Formats: sequence, C-alpha cells, structure tokens
Amino acid sequence: MALKQVLVKAATTRAGVRLRHLTFKGSGRYWEDRYAAGGTSGPGSYGPSAQWKADMVNAWVRELGMTSVVDFGCGDGNQLSLADYPRYLGLDRSGTAVRHCIERFSGDPTKSFLKFEPGELADPAGWLRGDMALSMEVIFHLVEDDIFEDYMRRLFAGAERFVVICSNDTSGDELVPHERHRSFTAWVARECPGWKLERKVDPPAETGLMSSLYLYVPTTA
Ligand SMILES: C[S@@+](CC[C@H](N)C(=O)[O-])C[C@H]1O[C@@H](n2cnc3c(N)ncnc32)[C@H](O)[C@@H]1O
Repeated sequence: MALKQVLVKAATTRAGVRLRHLTFKGSGRYWEDRYAAGGTSGPGSYGPSAQWKADMVNAWVRELGMTSVVDFGCGDGNQLSLADYPRYLGLDRSGTAVRHCIERFSGDPTKSFLKFEPGELADPAGWLRGDMALSMEVIFHLVEDDIFEDYMRRLFAGAERFVVICSNDTSGDELVPHERHRSFTAWVARECPGWKLERKVDPPAETGLMSSLYLYVPTTA
C-alpha cells in the first residue's frame, strides 16, 4: 500500500478520528494557528470553486441592487479578490487573516476590515449591518454550539435586506475536528421567522464544492 493510502486509512480509523478530536483546541484557535502557520482559507476559496461563488454572488449584488456587504468570516482575502461589491466590511475571528486583508486591500477605499471575537463584542445598536450579510463557507466550521448560535444571530441581525449563505446543509459525521455539519436551514426556519429562503443554487459538479448558495429575504419582501 502506498504511503499516502496508509496515512489516509490511519486518519480515518476511529482511533485516528478520536485522536484528532482530542487534540483539537477549538474553532477560534484552529483558524488563527492555521493562518499564522501560513495556511489559507482552503480549496473552496481558490480556483474554480472561488470563481463560481464570486460569479453567483456578484450577479445577485448587481441584479438586486445591493448597496453594501458585511462579510462574517472574510478569510485570507483570496475569495474577496474576485468580489465586486459597492461597499464592504469584512469581519473575521482570526487577527492574522484580518491583517492579511488590510494589507492586500490597502489601496481600496471601498473595503474595511475588523477582527472580532464572539463574547468580546456587543452590537445592539446595529453598527455591524449591511444591505446584505454574507457567510461564505463558515457555518460548517462553527464546531461549538454556543459559537454557532452567536454567529447565526449576528449574521441575520447584520442584514437589512438580504442574507447570502454558502454552506452545506447536512448534519452527519465529520472526519476532521474543525468541521461540524449542520442543517442551518432548519435553524433559520425555527429561529428567524422574519426571513424566508428565496433562492438556492447548487454548484456545478466540476467545482467539487460541497456548498450551495442560499439567498434569504425578509418575509415581508
Ligand atoms: C473556510 S474559511 C472561508 C473564508 C472566506 N469566507 C472565503 O470564502 O474564502 C472560514 C473562515 O471563517 C472564519 N471563522 C471561523 N469562525 C468564525 C466566527 N465565529 N466568526 C467569524 N469568522 C469565523 C475563519 O477564521 C476563516 O477565515
């Protein structure tokens, strides 16, 4: 058996999965350590996957006349480099990712960035709001229940007219500790009665992307 196959098999055994879960230090620490070690936002933020996500969301922004975007989990900025938004605020839990974005987009007066840490921020006055609130491939990385709840409430509170989500919507077994798959549409249907799912678009098979795009609008729209 080739070394790669041996490693994959070891990693997917019950013991391998348990060991990785035991050594996992939480979603916030995971992303900060990953970026600090030179890692990226992942394959979904590069190549054909990133292009499909950007093409779809850019088209919605144009078609629906969205005037500003608040991005909850902006990542390393590669996905953002393909975006065409009139006015943008990118938030991320990783300070390293936010510093990358500040540097990369330093000449762009339409883009602002802010590091935020759940539990160290209160926004009842609604400063962190945009015409559209965006969540791109973040939800299935929210491993902890309290972090998931906090994030989802902030996301929907951050939208004036639209919420756009790119995620999978399944719940099940994950082999990596930094993923937790959930049916977020069921959560929204239960917890956000003022919002309805307007559109869902699946990715082309050739991207290999597991996430679809979802557009929510107020029930009054
Ligand atoms: C897979 S990356 C996606 C980045 C970007 N949205 C994209 O599509 O390229 C997930 C990002 O979510 C961020 N993140 C994780 N938990 C978060 C939270 N509770 N609030 C905001 N961002 C978070 C991570 O730091 C990471 O940058």
